Amino acid sequence: MKTRILLVISFLLMIHSSFAASVVTEVAPQSSNSNSITLVFVLGILIVLLLAILVMLYYMTIALRVMSGKKDSSEPLFDFTGGVPVDREHEVMMDHEYDGIRELDNNMPTWWKWMFYATVVFSFAYYYYYQFGSGDTQLQEYEQSMVAAEAEMKLHGSKVDENSATVLTDATAIEAGKTIFMENCAACHGKLGEGGVGPNFADDYWLHGGDIKSVFKTIKFGVPEKGMIPWQAQLSAVQIQEVSSFVLTFKGTNPPNAKAPQGDLVK
Ligand code: HEC
Repeated sequence: MKTRILLVISFLLMIHSSFAASVVTEVAPQSSNSNSITLVFVLGILIVLLLAILVMLYYMTIALRVMSGKKDSSEPLFDFTGGVPVDREHEVMMDHEYDGIRELDNNMPTWWKWMFYATVVFSFAYYYYYQFGSGDTQLQEYEQSMVAAEAEMKLHGSKVDENSATVLTDATAIEAGKTIFMENCAACHGKLGEGGVGPNFADDYWLHGGDIKSVFKTIKFGVPEKGMIPWQAQLSAVQIQEVSSFVLTFKGTNPPNAKAPQGDLVK
């Protein structure tokens, strides 16, 4: 019996020291970059370590009980179900009976209780992570999804089209239009709208109409046979409205190397 207890204790020490070693080696190199994955990882290891300690304490109490003669060493060391054996069921039989149905006041299964304790331990880590650690609070998560939803609305949710387009004048919209123009249009229409492969935007002459609705329509559907791409697949309706508004800001700027006027005079 003594050898058995010694075996158990040395085994526990082994578990304990190997966990301690893994905590030291895993935590030390990572602690410099304090990202949330590291935190979850560390908390996970701490939880496992705590559980290992609990298991160790449990085995120690059993060992003590065996030593003091309160427990027969032939009984299993760890009783996974924790139930009272069938031959002792009369001890936990409750004294009520309905139509021959009787009830046992048996123990909760051991595995179930340990899972419950594990959730308690986990809840501390969870609470710490989301309340004081780097986990987002519910309010932060809400705000993030609102920002994402607004961006989504801006990109796809707008109903603006060639019949309802209006000139946007606010600085952010013009700035957004400028960015779109520089990335997609400047190669053919010039950085200053002076024209190149495509027509000049700084004069008063337009091939397809110089009002915002016509410009919107030209950009959306393009003039493919003349080398102007339709942009509706690449740009959202709002983006087309923004770049149309920006195109109209070239009017009257008189850039150098301007391409000769094309189309009809629009007053
Ligand atoms: C590959 C070159 C090319 C690119 C890129 C291009 N365009 Fe054009 N664009 C043209 C050509 C060529 C025309 C003239 C079509 C015609 O002759 O009918 C034109 C015509 C236009 C017109 C009509 C001008 C008028 O006089 O009626 C507008 C507005 C316009 N483009 C805006 C844009 C915008 C905004 C972009 C970027 C999103 C863009 N274009 C990108 C080549 C291009």
